[in-house]
Amino acid sequence: MRHLLGIEGLTKKELYAYLNNAKTFVEVGNRELKKVPALRGRTIINLFLEPSTRTRTSFEIAGKRMSADVVNIGASDSSTKKGETLLDTARTLQAMSPDVLVVRHSQSGAPHFLARMLKNTSVVNAGDGTHEHPTQALLDLLTIMQAFEKRPDGIEKLRVAIVGDVHHSRVARSNVWAHHLLGNEVHLVGPPALVSPDFVGPKCFGAPQFGGKIKVFHQIERGLEGADVVIVLRMQLERQHDHFVPTLQEYTDEFCVTENRLMQYAPQAVVLHPGPMNRGTEISSEVADGDRSLVERQVNNGVAVRMGVLFAMCNAQAQRGATSVDEREQTSIQMRQTAVGE
Ligand code: NCD
Repeated sequence: MRHLLGIEGLTKKELYAYLNNAKTFVEVGNRELKKVPALRGRTIINLFLEPSTRTRTSFEIAGKRMSADVVNIGASDSSTKKGETLLDTARTLQAMSPDVLVVRHSQSGAPHFLARMLKNTSVVNAGDGTHEHPTQALLDLLTIMQAFEKRPDGIEKLRVAIVGDVHHSRVARSNVWAHHLLGNEVHLVGPPALVSPDFVGPKCFGAPQFGGKIKVFHQIERGLEGADVVIVLRMQLERQHDHFVPTLQEYTDEFCVTENRLMQYAPQAVVLHPGPMNRGTEISSEVADGDRSLVERQVNNGVAVRMGVLFAMCNAQAQRGATSVDEREQTSIQMRQTAVGE
């Protein structure tokens, strides 16, 4: 696990390892002094070439809470603005020997390209185009895990409805992969232009490996029915260059997640939203601020998840130097003890 580029390709065991790792760090965030020496002497570069508030801030806080040296580069201060290629930017950064490069990019596949090119740096995907946003799916799962702590099956055997602009959503894709690994049923809900029936075609999530557990619904009532978890997606107007919906008002009338709809079709459901929210468009304020909303918990968990991921990346690098299984185990134990200050 030297890089974290997506949820696709992870095993269920690896998924749980990331979640359990994150759980350890939730506790650090509850301490009065929220700092552990785990990544002292490590350098983390956050290269965010697309707007971000939550993800960027939480990666920064995560790195700092782990005592790493954290450098942030945004679109406006990066030389890509002056015409430098992504590869040249990355090579320049690599020459400064960072341990981890966290990348957000508008092009799907950009972090994968960097991971292939950079030899000694771990790459973490913080959202690439419409492709994946693995740490968001992990923090969503951690949040669901806490909400269903007492449920005998934990985060398995759930019905999860993902409502909204699935077409443009990397959050949706990472979540679909994650819930597929857990064997959960996923409902993709929205108008046909935003949730294409092709999603459940043989070349996509309709492939036999998904076992018919991923379904498309163009009527919100049917899509929400019996859901344990509802993940609401933002209408990504900045990526909608064509007219995907006739008017926003029509979208809202048909697909806004409201308390009325939830009470009727998914009364037990908890609600998540990756943010930023368009209140009154895809989610009503009553839901966003109501008892079933886990939105604030998600943000809180984002820091712990990213601490866990940064730790796992550096741990994987330290293990590369180990020559035996015993030595690997020892390195891991030592790192974990330093991590949480045991
Ligand atoms: C998401 C993203 O950027 O993909 N936001 C986030 O990371 N918190 C979802 C979105 O922008 O709608």
